[in-house]
Amino acid sequence: MSNGPDRDSSNPLPSVPRGPMKLMDDCWMVGHRNPESMLQCNTYVRSFRQFGARRNVCIDPGSQFDYGVVESNISQLIGGMSEIHAMTINHQDPDVAGNAPAVCEASPEVELITTEETWRLLQHALIRPGKLRLSQGAAPATARQPFQFVPTPFCHFRGAMALYDPEQRVLYTGDLFGGLNRLGDVHLLANEDDWNGIAQFHQIYMPSRDVLRFAVKAILKLRPRVEFIAPQHGHVITGDLIDLFLERMHELPVGYDLFESQWDHENLAGYQDAIQRMIDYAENERGDVNVTCRLSEDDASDGLHGQLSFRQGKVRLEREGYTALAKVFARLAEGETDEFVTELRRVTASACDEQGLPIPPAASGFAADAVQEGG
Ligand SMILES: [Fe+2]
Ligand SMILES: [Fe+2]
Repeated sequence: MSNGPDRDSSNPLPSVPRGPMKLMDDCWMVGHRNPESMLQCNTYVRSFRQFGARRNVCIDPGSQFDYGVVESNISQLIGGMSEIHAMTINHQDPDVAGNAPAVCEASPEVELITTEETWRLLQHALIRPGKLRLSQGAAPATARQPFQFVPTPFCHFRGAMALYDPEQRVLYTGDLFGGLNRLGDVHLLANEDDWNGIAQFHQIYMPSRDVLRFAVKAILKLRPRVEFIAPQHGHVITGDLIDLFLERMHELPVGYDLFESQWDHENLAGYQDAIQRMIDYAENERGDVNVTCRLSEDDASDGLHGQLSFRQGKVRLEREGYTALAKVFARLAEGETDEFVTELRRVTASACDEQGLPIPPAASGFAADAVQEGG
């Protein structure tokens, strides 16, 4: 991902939160808010009162990139990593579990709560918890184990598991409902505008709409009803946005859905329009000749020449709009200024958004090299 100063310098940035971010009593987000990144990693600490004592649980300890901030925030709250009594891990990705070995080292008695599928892979990172609790599918909360286990298979790992805290009505969902943020804008509580970043993240990392629907149905069945969705990236969702984003998630084509030819065919006209708006912007800024040269080059390895045709000075999209749009974006953006690329991205994203089209990764700011960083 480009972590450079990819933003409009005339717009003042929202302030960057520092320190632990309180969601409610005994519940904090302690991850790093990084204004230079489009992917914030959320780590949570939930402190339970159990049998006259405190039990501090760390939910998804996070990326090694962020260890210093996570450690400092936890120390501020509870006196140190050694006071973590349990740790949960949604799945084995390094942005979720990278700090797990350090937690085990600081707190040797720590109990690790995860799924068998996740643990089978996670143990290869030399994570050695004092105790291990492997979930066996869905399970209710108990006095000793106050999270309800909510399996969310294939969102995005086969063994991914959300955790529901029925006392505070918070559902910790891992990558599910995670989202990208606009550079510099790292607020915690979601607003409706944050849906685009959530949709883009899911279109890249979730395998299919069917698995999202399975998870949405499981979430809707939870009682008491969920009041906070706390994902491992981006924004915490609450209020009316819970129902709205659940509805949208139920309908969102992602992953493999976007490769299906029928779906692509239905949206060809929409992507044609989006590509034309990108071209209009680029021609306005750089002239017709520059744009024609960039798009008509037919010996490039990206295969775009098989998706576009040129007739009477007009570019026509022939097939596979989703991938073609990403390639057009890459060709128009290559070697360009940050200002040009930012505006091209805005034009692209709003053209897709207005027509309800999935926004390809390039237009979200997730250039090819960036995709390797997230998830
Ligand atoms: Fe992940
Ligand atoms: Fe993640």
